[in-house]
Amino acid sequence: MRKQIAAANWKMNLTASQAQELAAALATGVTQVQPGQQVILGVPFPYLVLVQNKVAGNKNIFLSAQNCADKKNGAYTGETSAEMLHSISIPYVIIGHSERREYYHETHSQLATKVDLALAQDIQPIFCCGEPLHVRETNTQNVFVEKQLKESLFHLSDAQMKNFIIAYEPIWAIGTGKTASSDQAQEMHAHIRQVLASKYGNETAESVSILYGGSVKAANATEIFSKPDVDGGLVGGASLVATEFISIIESLKPGS
Ligand code: 13P
Repeated sequence: MRKQIAAANWKMNLTASQAQELAAALATGVTQVQPGQQVILGVPFPYLVLVQNKVAGNKNIFLSAQNCADKKNGAYTGETSAEMLHSISIPYVIIGHSERREYYHETHSQLATKVDLALAQDIQPIFCCGEPLHVRETNTQNVFVEKQLKESLFHLSDAQMKNFIIAYEPIWAIGTGKTASSDQAQEMHAHIRQVLASKYGNETAESVSILYGGSVKAANATEIFSKPDVDGGLVGGASLVATEFISIIESLKPGS
């Protein structure tokens, strides 16, 4: 029904040789991927092609960019378009990571545009959502995340939402070593699925893979991924260590 996904987000880490070394270790080490499971590496722009070459022999590993421009093409110095990513055969792009929302002031409507530009190039967005600590402390996270989804995704058609990928990443759990409990993750993932169902119906909502992100590591992945609405993870720090990430991949549920 929907894919179980282990996605790495390398963020702005690694040199070219370190990236190639990590990719080579994953290319040989990622062997336990079952049908319905998928491994995605979110690689910095300059290394996409280098890493692509390293993992070419492993049919289970797919590449993702970490961002794309909100413009199609033209005089936007320093930007990378979805069309460029398509031209080097990149099938996924992370859109709306909280670090981009916070540090680069990306808005709901810019993210909606990025989603459209990616889909127009047959690139599947991995759309991130999640609340900051002060929102969690006032127990208003459901409304907060619902708004993020509605403002950036609800213009999509039913066909576009089928098999979509969303990552729930509570900001207070990113890079802090503080994970949401598996129950907190399940509660929000079920909420996200219900929000999607209210617009697109149950069948489409059930086809969407909802990943959890925020201090996922080998030691907690099995517990978090065991929850029925948690379809894998988007992993930062722990994805930079091949053995850790491979163990996280092996913690995925069977694809359904
Ligand atoms: P950490 O796994 O380092 O907490 O990062 C999570 C994240 O932001 C993945 O996109």
